[in-house]
Amino acid sequence: MERMYPLVNGKLARFLHGGDYNPEQWPEEIRAEDMRLMKAANVNVATVGVFSWVSLQPGPDEFAFDWMDRVMDGLAEEGLHAVLATPTAAHPAWLSQEHPEVLRAGPDGRRRRHGARVNYCPNSVVYREACTEIDRRLAERYKDHPALLLWHVSNEFSAGCWCETCAGAFREWLKEKYGSLAELNEKWYTAFWGHTYTDWQQVEPPYEHGERSITALTVDYRRFCSDSVLGCFLNETTVLREVTPEVPITTNLMGTHRSLDYEKWAPHMDVISWDCYPGLRDDIAQTAFRHDLMCGLKQGRPFLLMEQTPSTQNWQAVNALKRPGQMRLWSYLAVAHGADSVMYFQWRRGRGGHEKLHGAVVEHAASEDARVFREVSELGEELAHLEDHLLGAGVEADIALIFDWENWWTLDATSGPVRDKKYVETVFAHYRALWRRNVPVHVVGTDADLSGYSVVIAPMLYSVSREWAQKVGEFVRGGGRLVAGCLTGWVDEYDLAYLNGYPGPLRETLGVWVEEVDALFEDQQNRILMKHPFGPCRGDYLCGRLCEIVHAESATVLATYGQEFYAGWPVVTENKHGEGFAYYIGTVPEVEFLEHLYRTICADCGIAPVLESPEGIEVRRRSQKNMSFTFILNHNDDVSFVDLGETEYRDLLTGQVLSGNIPLRGFAVRILVESDLWEEPEEEPDSEEPESGEGQQG
Ligand code: GLA
Ligand code: ZN
Repeated sequence: MERMYPLVNGKLARFLHGGDYNPEQWPEEIRAEDMRLMKAANVNVATVGVFSWVSLQPGPDEFAFDWMDRVMDGLAEEGLHAVLATPTAAHPAWLSQEHPEVLRAGPDGRRRRHGARVNYCPNSVVYREACTEIDRRLAERYKDHPALLLWHVSNEFSAGCWCETCAGAFREWLKEKYGSLAELNEKWYTAFWGHTYTDWQQVEPPYEHGERSITALTVDYRRFCSDSVLGCFLNETTVLREVTPEVPITTNLMGTHRSLDYEKWAPHMDVISWDCYPGLRDDIAQTAFRHDLMCGLKQGRPFLLMEQTPSTQNWQAVNALKRPGQMRLWSYLAVAHGADSVMYFQWRRGRGGHEKLHGAVVEHAASEDARVFREVSELGEELAHLEDHLLGAGVEADIALIFDWENWWTLDATSGPVRDKKYVETVFAHYRALWRRNVPVHVVGTDADLSGYSVVIAPMLYSVSREWAQKVGEFVRGGGRLVAGCLTGWVDEYDLAYLNGYPGPLRETLGVWVEEVDALFEDQQNRILMKHPFGPCRGDYLCGRLCEIVHAESATVLATYGQEFYAGWPVVTENKHGEGFAYYIGTVPEVEFLEHLYRTICADCGIAPVLESPEGIEVRRRSQKNMSFTFILNHNDDVSFVDLGETEYRDLLTGQVLSGNIPLRGFAVRILVESDLWEEPEEEPDSEEPESGEGQQG
């Protein structure tokens, strides 16, 4: 794999290390001290301007850039760079005061009062024009500034406005999509309960006290809202690209955030970045999954960790401190999954306001003699040593795990067979089975090119387009392997049921059809009885939540149900289709079953884990050119061992040469390169020229 810098704009080919900085909250002398402290903390970037709109534009015709000039100059003087945010996530009170229609409305259609942030209507022309204006001024002012590295557009976009402007824009969006009301009525199946529309004006957003019974309307409104906010993002990027075509653009995403279809956003972002805030007791595999989801948006290219707390959060029920070494470990977790940055929210703890107790690199006492400050500065030093080798390395995977926002929305909007379909959890269960064995995957959407993969996994892909079914069918015929889980292929992208038996357009590929689905109460389970051992799948396993009654057509039955009136019916099948195989799992199996199943499938395809490791130790790999970097992460807080076998490795962090069974301290990290592949780092592009055309675009 070639080296893929996430951003090369002639300025900085380094691991970004720094974080959100709000100088507008502080007097000059503290700002000067911040520059000194940033150097001491081995920080190289500061994200500035995130919520600075009113400080930059105190009134409609008043602008105040002088303070920002000093901040940008100060950064540049110290050799630091700015991730410069457009300030549009928090619009000024004067804008709401003059134009109340810029405020968003809640699901009851009621306009919200001014306050908080991301509180604007994405379809407000006034809001969008105001964004264009402030962005143009910002870009014009700093386009040649030596500190400007990367645009950070707005902050944590999210969707959902139910105002009259949006209702009108929704109708236009629908006209564009369906062409005619007749077509809309057909696709939305409005004949049901006599909901046929006879005039476009009758079509309303799914207000909480309005039309909530047309699933396709609900899902279309989510699509529309996501598109509307994407429209805001593009409204801003248009100006930025016009004024600063060389400067790459990102916006900070939020992992498994529901309101935006990030797959549609990714092509418009030069580099993916995201904010990672796990709870201290969360399953660490969940964090790994979200990193892989973000990395998968560009199919394995490096991304940026834009925010994490260096110590504590303030919005969980209990905001425990990251233990000593844990922030470093979780930072390397991000790096192991493809991040080329470690950044924090926030640089300096605000004195007042909502986040004054949120973790920061610089606490209220502003002492360098503090645990968190020391940990940050040590990590900065380490990252600087790694970057010559590691920066720009990609994440390779033979397995594509499908995660699809539109499907998520459709499942959530559909009533039956269970209220909570647990889509994210369901996809995650498949991920976890592979993660536990250190098998890399790309978590990707249905637009992804499948040609580089050997295995595609589609858990609960309820809403499937005929096009995707065809694409994956060809993938299997050509020798690929597909694993599909229950509820897959029930409806098309309009939420209209397939009438040829589920899994609809995948029926031939999978060689099964599903007659019924039984929903199980929480205290109920069924069993998966293997007919014969299938690799390590043998004996029986538990399953629950949903049990489909499956007819095997061309497929071979691998396992049957153990209980209920459908005992003996197929539950796991294998279908030879062209050169490949398609597996169907008609239920929600326990994770052990998935672990065993994937062991077999991986062995058949020659997919090996990076390294087998005991519980709590995660092993990942990034690679570029001939080098690969093996990350060993000990998530346990005590000593654990991992067996490296006979291969000899060099540890990038310590220079030690290692092989065999090695001990790892609690929260230890090792980054290993095979000794015989070790090469001294080549000369890297320095401050002037990017190495090649690759880099900032996509
Ligand atoms: C988000 C925001 C930040 C801050 C943090 C706090 O990630 O982008 O502005 O509010 O949460 O955890
Ligand atoms: Zn609106």
